[in-house]
Amino acid sequence: MTEEKKSVPRHIGFIMDGNGRWAKAKNRPRSYGHKKGADVIEEVVDASFDHGVEAVSLYAFSTENWKRPKEEIGALFDLFLEYFISELDDLDKNNVCIRIMGDMSAFPEKMGRETDEAMYKTRNNTGLKLNIALNYGSRAEVVRACNALIERGKPIDEAELMNALYTAGLPDLDLVIRTAGEQRLSNFMLLQAAYAELVFTDVTFPELTDERYADCIREYQRRTRRFGAVTE
Ligand code: IPE
Ligand code: IPE
Ligand code: MG
Repeated sequence: MTEEKKSVPRHIGFIMDGNGRWAKAKNRPRSYGHKKGADVIEEVVDASFDHGVEAVSLYAFSTENWKRPKEEIGALFDLFLEYFISELDDLDKNNVCIRIMGDMSAFPEKMGRETDEAMYKTRNNTGLKLNIALNYGSRAEVVRACNALIERGKPIDEAELMNALYTAGLPDLDLVIRTAGEQRLSNFMLLQAAYAELVFTDVTFPELTDERYADCIREYQRRTRRFGAVTE
């Protein structure tokens, strides 16, 4: 049991929240918070690799985030594009394998091209698996999976459903970390998080440091996971 408790989470989900509040506290526009948040992603990726995590899923833009002001959405698109253009070579060099989760058809075409290239270029990389959730919602993901499965015209089992999700082939989430104090999942990877440990930290995403991230992993390691069974 000690082994299990101290184990490194294989798959971590990040609900990167609090960019806007962080910026507001500094009297800056929300887009400034998103920019700082984007910088922190690099640190999260590096630290995840150092911790020995296998896969990281980042919630970058939800299916509900379309409700935000046009200018904020525009600023986010620019940042996503900038991220893929400026980081791709480094991520590739670091053996990171990128997977996009979400319907890219709703974004400007250029975004689709960049994300396709990111996935294609890094497809054979064997290091950290980095999933980026863009225009992602768990319910939309399940609907997409069901529509793909329905064509088979026969009943399906749990494994087939899980395999029709964006995370096909990856382990379930062991840990979901949400920054900025909110304690909810906001439509993030609901099926993959069925038995995930949830860790909420008050620091906003732009303020997340390697130390705080390590604290979240330590918190996870203190938990006893039972998966419905009993422990002695
Ligand atoms: C998270 O920060 C980034 C996205 C949702 C894109 P928020 O923008 O939600 O920041 P708060 O929650 O308003 O502070
Ligand atoms: C969740 O954060 C979405 C992302 C982190 C991309 P939100 O800020 O959109 O969630 P709510 O509205 O507080 O639930
Ligand atoms: Mg928020």
